[in-house]
Amino acid sequence: MGKLLDAGGGSGALAAYVRRHLDPESITVVDVDAAALAETPAGMHTRLSRIEDLSDADGRFDTILARQVLHYVASAVDALTLLRKLLLPGGVIYVGQIVAPDQSAARWLAERASWASPTRHSVFTTDALLSLFAHAGLGLERAVIAPHWQRLKPTAQAIGATTHAGDNGAMAMHAEDDVIHVRVLWLHCLLVADETARPGGMPRQAAV
Ligand SMILES: C[S@@+](CC[C@H](N)C(=O)[O-])C[C@H]1O[C@@H](n2cnc3c(N)ncnc32)[C@H](O)[C@@H]1O
Repeated sequence: MGKLLDAGGGSGALAAYVRRHLDPESITVVDVDAAALAETPAGMHTRLSRIEDLSDADGRFDTILARQVLHYVASAVDALTLLRKLLLPGGVIYVGQIVAPDQSAARWLAERASWASPTRHSVFTTDALLSLFAHAGLGLERAVIAPHWQRLKPTAQAIGATTHAGDNGAMAMHAEDDVIHVRVLWLHCLLVADETARPGGMPRQAAV
């Protein structure tokens, strides 16, 4: 396991889970939220920074975690490329991300995702995320995909917009009081630096 970086790790919940089950040599949690970092468990290093601003000076790592953070960065391919460069030889990156089942569903969700997180930049599909990995020079070692009902609590205005829009054929969803549940997917990926991958710019249509 070696040196572990939890990128956009918040209060270090995932890093703490990993520490309970494995035995990392050290843990560094990077996040833009000082209040969240203040809650990381004892024994973890913290760094108040955007992922995009990390450099070699922050160290290099055997294992990098990036769970539910790529939709907050302006360019996920740039952030992933940067994280790849922070890997020690033989290192791995875990990306865990909630994704939309297809492009149409991603567009529908992107319009409404600010209900849940106003600073969100993107909603990915599975294909989009896999394409981003290749463009960031990362090879996919293993992937697990699981269905998931995402709970969204819309504002009153947004509920009106949904009612007006009527049913959305692309998204399975059900409403319960003032909360809607939309059918999405959890994508868990283990990635390695891939010399054969073709690093490059963000592919078109990769995310909405
Ligand atoms: C949904 S939370 C996920 C936290 C953690 N990865 C987990 O799975 O429990 C997203 C986190 O990303 C952080 N974040 C957002 N944009 C960031 C950026 N550009 N660089 C680093 N962290 C960022 C937020 O402050 C927040 O803690």
